[in-house]
Amino acid sequence: MTGQIASTHATPLRIAVVGFGAAAQAFVPAILGNPEFELAAIVEPHEDVQPQARRLGVPVFSHLDQLRQLSRLDGVYLATPTPLHAAQSVACLEAGWHVLVEKPMACNAAQALRMVDTAKRCNKHLTVGHSHSFDAPIQAMRQIIQRGELGKVHMVNTWCFTDWVYRPRRAEELDSDFGGGATFRQGAHQIDILRALCGAKVKTVKAKVFDVDPQRSTHGAHAIFLDFDNGAAATAIYNGYGGMSSMDLTQNISEWGFDQPPHLRTWYTRPDKAHSPEQELKAKQQRAQSAIPATSPHQPHFGLTVVSGALGDVRQTPDGLQISGPNGQTDIQLSLQASPRDLVLAELAHTWRGTAQPWHDGMWGYENLRVCEAAIASAATGREVLLDDPC
Ligand SMILES: NC(=O)c1ccc[n+]([C@@H]2O[C@H](COP(=O)([O-])OP(=O)(O)OC[C@H]3O[C@@H](n4cnc5c(N)ncnc54)[C@H](O)[C@@H]3O)[C@@H](O)[C@H]2O)c1
Repeated sequence: MTGQIASTHATPLRIAVVGFGAAAQAFVPAILGNPEFELAAIVEPHEDVQPQARRLGVPVFSHLDQLRQLSRLDGVYLATPTPLHAAQSVACLEAGWHVLVEKPMACNAAQALRMVDTAKRCNKHLTVGHSHSFDAPIQAMRQIIQRGELGKVHMVNTWCFTDWVYRPRRAEELDSDFGGGATFRQGAHQIDILRALCGAKVKTVKAKVFDVDPQRSTHGAHAIFLDFDNGAAATAIYNGYGGMSSMDLTQNISEWGFDQPPHLRTWYTRPDKAHSPEQELKAKQQRAQSAIPATSPHQPHFGLTVVSGALGDVRQTPDGLQISGPNGQTDIQLSLQASPRDLVLAELAHTWRGTAQPWHDGMWGYENLRVCEAAIASAATGREVLLDDPC
């Protein structure tokens, strides 16, 4: 799906990738295929991973500080473990570099606000991504809503069923104090989609969050209800316990746009006995090399999202969208030219060059994180959480 993108500027933006795991390895092909950007360096401290990074023919450093050796650097892509995002973002912004940081942008909303404040103080851009509202089908749904084709949107529902809990993980990825667990890690995508499509401020959050496997304790499933200040309501349902797959709802299309009927799915199930941290890390590093392919024959599906408006419903299909209304159905085919990461870079180029208003900026990421945090708080207290205006 990564297409050739024509550059409109003579000087490419120099970007360094920090952390060379699953997220970064998915992102690098988009950088290499985009003439607006030049990969300047990679920072990766793990000796087992550095040889893969070196194959890209750019300097590979062990420490973030070593990026100062580069003669010119416009910005960094932080694809490090979530607990490092806040301190590394602050350090990079203060060094004079723009920052693209992976989701969730931090471990909690307080850290996220510190990142936003630092970007403002340093007059640099902070962008959060990739997240699934960058995906072409979600962007197309948003445009359909904004053109008024569905009438007033009253409801958006998104469902995702995966094996997230049983995929190989570092310990902190399962701990919500460190931005881990499915509600922070995967809820970040769902809340991002719901806010993009409801197009208003979240007023209240009510949620239940589930931790059902004592052998692998984490927030592995949730049901979240959002009430928006324009009258819309939304739900995010996530079950990461390796039962039914969302692909049973998406005509067998996977998160990254592959046709995966049941016999082609690689599915992690509950292991007979716990793996050691070393085994988990090795399996994770192995999986990182192919977990998120750069190109795909169909549109990405983060589960299934359905928007309901006064004039009809819109849902994703393998190659686009389907609008169903009282007068029948319309199928819309969407271009496969730009992958989700190409679309992140398209927004990033405009943001860093100052040619368009950013959408997925620090405040956008902060609001997403704040809703995930509120969902966990609501589950803990059994109460609805009222979200104040951001400070
Ligand atoms: N947007 C997406 O679809 C998506 C997919 C996967 C992960 N993520 C996010 O990306 C982030 C990384 O997740 P991952 O699964 O790629 O993790 P990972 O463990 O596969 O990769 C992280 C890499 O960072 C390296 N690292 C550790 N400390 C470092 C430091 N101080 N400086 C530089 N590098 C360091 C590690 O050695 C590792 O190679 C998380 O925040 C996660 O939520 C996003």
